[in-house]
Amino acid sequence: MIHAQGNHSITYDFDKDIPWNQGLTLSQTLLPIPANCSFINELTKNEKHAASWVLGLLAASAIKEHEKVLNQMRTICFEREPKAKNNHAFAMEGKQFFLEEAVHSAAFSRFLDMTAKELNLSREELSSFLPSFDKKSLVARLYAFEGLLGGKAIWWTVAATEEESIRLFQQMAPHKNHTDSVFFSLNRLHFLEESRHSSFSYEMLSMPEQSWRRPITRLSFAVSRILQTIWLIGELKRFRKVSQFQDRHPILKSMNQVVEKIDVLPFKSKLKLIFNEISYIKMMTQPEKHPRLKKTLAKIGAFVLKTPGIKS
Ligand SMILES: [Fe+2]
Ligand SMILES: [Fe+2]
Repeated sequence: MIHAQGNHSITYDFDKDIPWNQGLTLSQTLLPIPANCSFINELTKNEKHAASWVLGLLAASAIKEHEKVLNQMRTICFEREPKAKNNHAFAMEGKQFFLEEAVHSAAFSRFLDMTAKELNLSREELSSFLPSFDKKSLVARLYAFEGLLGGKAIWWTVAATEEESIRLFQQMAPHKNHTDSVFFSLNRLHFLEESRHSSFSYEMLSMPEQSWRRPITRLSFAVSRILQTIWLIGELKRFRKVSQFQDRHPILKSMNQVVEKIDVLPFKSKLKLIFNEISYIKMMTQPEKHPRLKKTLAKIGAFVLKTPGIKS
C-alpha cells in the first residue's frame, strides 16, 4: 500500500506492507553470500546458512543504529542550516526525510525484536553482539563536533549508507525465493524509500556553494571515512560475543563456528575477506567509487581519502 502525502511525496506503510504476522522463517536466508567470497568453501552447509544470517543481522543493526543517531543529530546537521530556517519548502522536505528515517529505524528494530525471540535471546542479549552507534560514543561526538565547525562528515556518511541500502536490496532481489519474507519486504520498502529520498543528502552536501572553498568542507569526506572505518572495525569485533549464547539455538552455534573459522585466518586473509570479498562491507569502505558520490566529490572539490586496496 502506498500513501500519498502532500503534493509530491510518497511514503510506504512499514506496518501494513510487511508480513510481520507471518513470523520469521529461520530455514530461509537473509543476505546472499557474495559469489566471489572464497572463504565460503571452508564452511559446512549449516555454517553457510548461519553466515547469511550473520550478514543480514549486521546490516539490519547497522541501518537501524545509523538512522537513529541521524535523528538524534538533527539539530546540528540540519536545523542550524540557514536554508532550513528560511525556506519553508526545504524545512518540510527535511522534516519528511527525518520522519522516514525514524520509521525505517523502528522497522529494522522490530525485525531484530522478532529475531531475538526466535533465537531464544532477550533483545539486550542480541544487541550485545550486533553493531551499535551511541550518540554519546567518541565517534558520534566527533561527528557532532565536525558538524558544529561547519563540516558535512555526517552527510557524507548518510549518502554512503543510503547508496549501500539501495545496492543491498539490488543484491538480494534475485534471491527472493530463498529469503525470509519479512526481511525481504522490509528491505524492499527501505530500498524504495531510500531511492526516492536519497537526493536530500546530496542537496545537504552541495549547499551553500560558497562553502566549497572552505578547508573544513573539503576535508569532510576524509573525516567521514576515518570515523566510519573506526566505527566499523570496532563494531565487527563485537560479534565474537555470540559465543556466550551458542547453546541457545543451533543457528547461534553455527554463527560462532563461522566466527572461530574467521579468527584463525592469517591477518591479511581476514582483511581481504572483510574489506574485499564481503561486498556489503566493501560498499561501506569505498563509497567514493559510487558514481553519484564520485560526481558530488568532484563538484565540491573534496579531498578523497581512499581505502587502500588489499591484494591477493
Ligand atoms: Fe533509511
Ligand atoms: Fe534515507
